[in-house]
Amino acid sequence: MAARGVGLLSRLPMCAQRSQVLRPIHRLLSCPGTVAADARREQLSSGSTETGSEDRTPKKRFSEVQKERREQAQRTILILCPNKISEKKFLKYLSQHGPINNHFFFESFGLYAVVEFCQKESVASLQNLTRTPSMSTEAAIPFRSRFFNLKLKSSSDQTSGQSCIPCCNQSPPSSKKLFELLCDAESIDDQLNTLLKEFQLTEENTKLRYLTCSLIEDIAAAYFPDCAVRPFGSSVNSFGKLGCDLDMFLDLDEIGNFSAHKTSGNFLMEFQVKNVPSERIATQKILSVIGECLDNFGPGCVGVQKILNARCPLVRFSHQASGFQCDLTTNNRIALKSSELLYIYGALDSRVRAMVFSIRCWARAHSLTSSIPGAWITNFSLTMMVIFFLQRRSPPILPTLDYLKTLADAEDKCIIEGHNCTFICDLNRIKPSKNTETLELLLKEFFEFFGNFAFNKNSINIRQGREQNKPEPSPLHIQNPFETSLNISKNVSQSQLQKFVDLARESAWILHQEDKDHPSPSSNQPWGLAALLLPSITKSMSHDKKKRKKPPSERIKNLLESIKGSPENSTNTNGKRTVSTQA
Ligand code: GTP
Ligand code: MG
Repeated sequence: MAARGVGLLSRLPMCAQRSQVLRPIHRLLSCPGTVAADARREQLSSGSTETGSEDRTPKKRFSEVQKERREQAQRTILILCPNKISEKKFLKYLSQHGPINNHFFFESFGLYAVVEFCQKESVASLQNLTRTPSMSTEAAIPFRSRFFNLKLKSSSDQTSGQSCIPCCNQSPPSSKKLFELLCDAESIDDQLNTLLKEFQLTEENTKLRYLTCSLIEDIAAAYFPDCAVRPFGSSVNSFGKLGCDLDMFLDLDEIGNFSAHKTSGNFLMEFQVKNVPSERIATQKILSVIGECLDNFGPGCVGVQKILNARCPLVRFSHQASGFQCDLTTNNRIALKSSELLYIYGALDSRVRAMVFSIRCWARAHSLTSSIPGAWITNFSLTMMVIFFLQRRSPPILPTLDYLKTLADAEDKCIIEGHNCTFICDLNRIKPSKNTETLELLLKEFFEFFGNFAFNKNSINIRQGREQNKPEPSPLHIQNPFETSLNISKNVSQSQLQKFVDLARESAWILHQEDKDHPSPSSNQPWGLAALLLPSITKSMSHDKKKRKKPPSERIKNLLESIKGSPENSTNTNGKRTVSTQA
């Protein structure tokens, strides 16, 4: 059945192992029209809110979206293509195995295609006709995967000249582009919505995330048939930014579910009773073998690190083809439930995501957050702070978690490891807020609110939607919504918190000054959100020069010191602020 001159190789890990972990280089090109209409429809139906207007279409439950996406990913394949390829011939060849639902191309280390068949059987049909490299000649370890390598045998299958395949962009806009877009916006509200539009995960990027999980599931299934690998965190909670990591959860409960109704017999499966001293050790053992498996046999998995002694043990690796940095955990069901809760909050009101994206970008631009673990605030904590702030508005923009619990019915009941994680899952049953405040006002008020928050004595609590007395002396206390005795920001140091407070005050002040001076979107100066994302030093100095009679000399001195010789996006050991335009 294979078309003449075209051969597919099942993708093997050896070529990936040869190269080191490299950061992907993406090319910015427009998306193909082939998936656009479908993507638009799916984006709406999957609960992602349109910016600027309330979306009245019924929104899907988190579990429905996960199920649909997972099933879609199981019908999808990943192909490394030669650069000069005819899209038409490529699709014609693949269609021999069954109708194609949609496809797109992207660039990572080479040109890749993601092809979604209408039926799962098409994948098996293609696999059956695909050659596996021979061990003797290609030094490869055979693995039956859905990651293929297209080798064109005849030159007639190649297009002449440059490849004209349109590629989907997988990375956020450059700082320069972002500033241009923000400066061209008509209002601060428009700026926040623009930032959201530019940074949010695209339909294609989301598909690629689910596909990557599905490909990892194929590998994990070699050890644990019927397991599931599910994405969680910002990839699915609607707050994911292009380029964010891919958090995966190896779900072994599915295996138990197959025998859930067979409790009356005399037999127990031996694996279920194999004794290990503790659940943590069981988790470490499972992740250890999966880590080995990914390292040795995982097509495209490179730089595998087993971080088993962390509070939450994990396997970290790069999925070279998709370009995702992946964290695989197991026994982490509460995090999946947190993702569902954030998904609901993100879908309830279109202002939520616009605020969260802007605050996250603002924090990143000022090195308040970092991709390296340390004493900084995390994106997860920042999201909680925005949710809390929106619960505190009058009338509230978001309901409290306790209120969402009162709306829950029997099927929503969820207890994980003794923690009550119950809340309503059908977001269509939650009444929209009557609050009509603009994003501009909310942004200003956010900075004022946290610039003056009594962090020394109060804890942030989204369960009750009001501050509580701090139960322990950490500088920043944000109650874990489900494991309520835990603080999700325990790692944050006093100096990092102070930096956050100083920047929040400074940002509130800048927005107030602009109010007074009637900022001019038409002038060439960065204004509104663009001004807030600029390195503080430039901003402070120009503002101070123009407006302040007595500049706060200590702050300027610190800023000047920090800019000297500090690398972008880093914090020096003195805890002094460094500046960056990277959002
Ligand atoms: P990104 O920075 O975009 O990756 O945001 P993220 O929300 O995905 O954060 P991260 O990758 O650090 O963590 C993934 C998920 O793990 C989060 O969404 C939370 O559900 C959960 N998580 C992260 N940090 C904590 C924490 O300190 N406590 C608890 N309980 N859960 C956490
Ligand atoms: Mg993440």
